[in-house]
Amino acid sequence: MKTKILKVTGHALEPAFFREAGQILRNGGLVAFPTETVYGLGGNALDADASAKIYAAKGRPSDNPLIVHISSMEELPPLVKRIPEEAERLAAAYWPGPMTIIFEKSSLIPDTTSGGLKTVAVRMPSDPVAQALIRAAGVPIAAPSANTSGRPSPTEAKHVIEDMDGRIEMIIDGGPVDVGVESTIVDLTGEKPMLLRPGAVTLPMLEAVLGEVLLDPVLTKPMAPGMHPKAPGMKYRHYAPRAEMILVEGSQEAVVRTIGKHAAEAAAEGKRVGIIATEETRGRYHTGDIKCIGTRSDQASVAHNLFAVLRAFDDDGVDVIYSESFPADDLGLAIMNRMMKAAGHHRIVTASDGTETETGGGR
Ligand code: TXA
Ligand code: MG
Repeated sequence: MKTKILKVTGHALEPAFFREAGQILRNGGLVAFPTETVYGLGGNALDADASAKIYAAKGRPSDNPLIVHISSMEELPPLVKRIPEEAERLAAAYWPGPMTIIFEKSSLIPDTTSGGLKTVAVRMPSDPVAQALIRAAGVPIAAPSANTSGRPSPTEAKHVIEDMDGRIEMIIDGGPVDVGVESTIVDLTGEKPMLLRPGAVTLPMLEAVLGEVLLDPVLTKPMAPGMHPKAPGMKYRHYAPRAEMILVEGSQEAVVRTIGKHAAEAAAEGKRVGIIATEETRGRYHTGDIKCIGTRSDQASVAHNLFAVLRAFDDDGVDVIYSESFPADDLGLAIMNRMMKAAGHHRIVTASDGTETETGGGR
């Protein structure tokens, strides 16, 4: 299949620009598009065949449900059994925006879209291109991240082209995304609200609206046999670079010293080494392929660059990546969740006296 690449220009937000894309979606085809979080791979959420095509294009297990994207609150009631009062308040506070809510699904949502679950994930993105596309389609759009299953989520159109060229009808290039990590997922179908995936709508932001919010236990521990995350996608080791990745924790001084030492040792063994550094530390490493992920004074810069940095290491063909780690507060919870998954929970904790404790290695 020949994939059409449509570049968003100054006049792009007029309806005529999206006419062909809307038609492709209504006809059951697939269109990748930018959202404020990551690029999505869109198909008609109400069309079981379109959902099946999404799983095929991504190479994604079909038990991993898709997020349904809407452009206004009027589009929500037909998709769900009921709208809990907490959802009204969350939507008023953070929609449109980087937050997904789990509802009980209505019979309009095919089982392929919901991965066989009785619930459905719904999100109203704020990106104007995503909004215009949903309106042009006239149907809710099911869209997982537009990466091949197992690769880091795409934050630029070139990442989508790498993974999807020739597999889908169209890719809309709206430039780099804003946030860089996928939406926060909140489940409102249980006794109490539960955070299933951290994102840019942070835990304190959710608590400000909902009061107590539970954390899915898989967010704080590595997956063990018998553990079942409520968001099926969280069980996969995705966001993953091809290289082995090791997260190094401790004081800034200890981390710089430990990474420097391990990088030198790995290089001496003939390995190609990558280092994930920050503005604050980049000048202090002297071995390997050193990439700056952002500045410690701005968590958003780190989230924004995270997946692009992991993909760049794939392109460079490194064997092992040593990464600095970040405080897991606010957006840091989302950053560390993605980094831990990329590393398969392999980490080294360094104490100020130089003692190292290594956990979770050996995949
Ligand atoms: O920011 C985002 O959410 C992006 C953009 C494109 O909107 N989309 C995205 O989709 O990240 P995806 O498919 O890569 O991740 C969806 C996650 C998966 O972990 C999936 O298991 C979970 O949402 N999910 C979907 N429906 C669910 C449901 N009914 N119950 C629990 N988890 C669900
Ligand atoms: Mg994904």
